[in-house]
Amino acid sequence: MLRVGVMVSGGGTNLQAILDAVDAKKITNAEIAVVISNNPNAYALERAKNHGIDAVCISPKEFDSREAFNEAFLAKVDEYNLDLIVLAGFLVKIPAAMIEKYEHRIINIHPSLIPSFCGVGYYGLKVHEAALARGVKVTGATVHFVDSGMDTGPIILQKAVEVQEGDTPEVLQRRVMEQAEWVLLPQAIDMIANERII
Ligand code: GAR
Repeated sequence: MLRVGVMVSGGGTNLQAILDAVDAKKITNAEIAVVISNNPNAYALERAKNHGIDAVCISPKEFDSREAFNEAFLAKVDEYNLDLIVLAGFLVKIPAAMIEKYEHRIINIHPSLIPSFCGVGYYGLKVHEAALARGVKVTGATVHFVDSGMDTGPIILQKAVEVQEGDTPEVLQRRVMEQAEWVLLPQAIDMIANERII
C-alpha cells in the first residue's frame, strides 16, 4: 500500500478528486496518510478532516527563518513515512533537502501544458490569465515529477483542453480542472501505486 501525503495551500478541489478516486477505487493500492498545508485557512484541511485524514498546518510564518521552516517541514513529512508526496495546489517552494531525499517520489499538478505558462510566477489563476493574454486556442494540465527546478521535472501525464470564445480566467480555470486536473492527478497516483510508470 503506497503511503501518500498531499500538500495543499487552498481550496483543495484536486485533493477532493484524489479522495473521491480512492473511495471509488479508481486509485488502488494507495492510502492518503496526511494532508499538509502552509495555510491555516485552506479549505483543503476541512476536506481532509471530513475524510478522517490527519490535517496538518505548518506555515513559514511560524518560523524565524526559511531554514528553520524547511527543517521543520521536512521533519513533519518524515514522520509519516510517505512513499509519495503529491503537490496539489501547494504554493510553497519545496526545500532542496526534501527534493533530494524524496527524489522521484514528489509529483506536482500544473494547470497548463508544460513548457507553456510555467515556472516562476505562474500559479493558479495567473496561468490562465497568461494563456488568455497570449491567445492560445488549446491549454491543459500537466502532472510531472518535481526536481530542483520550477516545473522542470519529467512529465508523467498531460491533457489538452480547448479555450473557448469569451473565456474569462475563472471559466477557463474551471474547465481545465474539470476536464484535465481532476482526471490526471488521480490517474498518475494510481499509475505510481500500481507500478505502471516507466
Ligand atoms: C490548481 O489549479 C493547481 O493546478 C494549481 O493550483 C490550483 C489549486 O486548486 N497549481 C499551480 O498553479 C502550481 N503551480 P485546488 O486547491 O482547488 O486543488
